[in-house]
This record gives sequence, C-alpha cells and structure tokens, in this order.
Amino acid sequence: MKLVFTIAAISDIHVEKYHIQKDFFDRVNGNADLLIIGGDMNNGKDEEVKLFLRLVSGVQIPMVVIFGNHDCDAGDLGRLKEMLVVNPLIKILDGEYVEYELNGKVLGIAGTKGYGGGFTPYRIVGRGESATKAFVEEEEREVEKLQIALHQMKNSSQDFRIALTHFASFEETVDGEPKELYIILGSSKLGDAIEEVAPHLALSGHAHHGARGIKKARGKISACNIAYKVNDGKVPLFDFFLDGNVLGRYLESH
Ligand SMILES: [Fe+2]
Ligand SMILES: [Fe+2]
Repeated sequence: MKLVFTIAAISDIHVEKYHIQKDFFDRVNGNADLLIIGGDMNNGKDEEVKLFLRLVSGVQIPMVVIFGNHDCDAGDLGRLKEMLVVNPLIKILDGEYVEYELNGKVLGIAGTKGYGGGFTPYRIVGRGESATKAFVEEEEREVEKLQIALHQMKNSSQDFRIALTHFASFEETVDGEPKELYIILGSSKLGDAIEEVAPHLALSGHAHHGARGIKKARGKISACNIAYKVNDGKVPLFDFFLDGNVLGRYLESH
C-alpha cells in the first residue's frame, strides 16, 4: 500500500483545563501534512483564544478548525473567527468545505459544529415547549449546514474526503459514555448526512469518555473520536493510502 498523506486530528483540548504545552502542537511538523482541530479549544474568552493561538503558533502545516459547544460559550463566534484567522494557516469550517492538494492528491474536508438530538431510535422530538423546539432547531440548522457542505464537496472532485463535526455523528464513537448523555453528545441525523456522501473518514469529538480508535460506523463508515481525553492526550494520526484505505496511529511523544 502506498501512503499518500498523513492527517493529525485532535479535539477538546480545552486550553483552560488541560494545560497543553506548545510542544504538543510543534511535534506535528514533519509528522503530518495537515492538522485538524475539532472544536472545544476554549470557552471563547479573548485570553483563552490568545493562548490557543500561542500554542499553535509553531505549526507549519495547514490547520482546519471547527467550533465546539464550549467555543460558543462567550456568545460571539464572529469575534472568535476574526481572532483565529490572524494565523494565515488556519481555515475555519462552519458549514463549508475546503480542499488541499497534498502530495499530488486532493483532499476535501467538510465541517461544522453539529449538535445533539440523540441516536435513532432514541431521539428528542421537537414538540411541546419552546425550549425543546429550540433544541431541535439548532440540531436541524447544523444538520443542514453539514448537508450543504458535504454536497458541495461531492459536486467537486477530490481523491479523498473527510467529514468533520464536533458533536458525534455516529453512536459507535460515543460508546463508553452513559446512555443518559447520548442525547446531548450527538445526532444520528449528522450521520445520515455523512452516510449519503460516504467519505473516507468521519471525525468527531465532544464525547470525552467515548470510544477510542477507528470504528466501522453503521458497518461501513470509518469514524473516529478525536477527543484529547479519549486518546489519553496523544495526537491521533491518520494515514491515507492510494487505494483509499485509512489507518490510524498515534504521534509518539519523544
Ligand atoms: Fe469538550
Ligand atoms: Fe464539546
């Protein structure tokens, strides 16, 4: 099997909680061709965003970033976007897709935050109180954003495709969490959108105590939980091979 490129992907680094050092990110240089950061970098406060930017300031490869629920905490995603894109290597996906040419092949990444709602058949129903309806409306908004991004990506031609969400798209990636939390951990509607496009890899985070490693979601989609805690603070790497195979491993600490 011929290796084409390697992607590093981590989410839920919660800079205010886990006290990650700059070296954690510096080590992706030379070990990966692109870095994905899957949300919950911080709580959206200016000083935390600046700390995150300092932590990734030594990264010399393109970075693709989506937001998590914690990033929304300060309530101003516009300001967060403005602050992050000061680093020209950072591309934010909030219902869009992006393409990169890596070692002569084109990789497409479609991403959005996503939301909860639960996994079929145990899903929230958007009837009754306005708060319940608002919950389901946020799920529907995020599902639609993901659908649009995925379909726009599919209408263009790439050699490899990744679907990226912060909330879980597939139940297999949250396995290990209490079932009572599933409804706020992810949505099978995100998974439905991803299944239609059948990317080479689906990445998500948010479920800090979910499943580790690449799972065959719904028996066919390679899906992986990239949350920092799930992966014991190691950076997951994904090797993309010419035949379409994707294999996972960890960036070894020295
Ligand atoms: Fe998180
Ligand atoms: Fe989260």
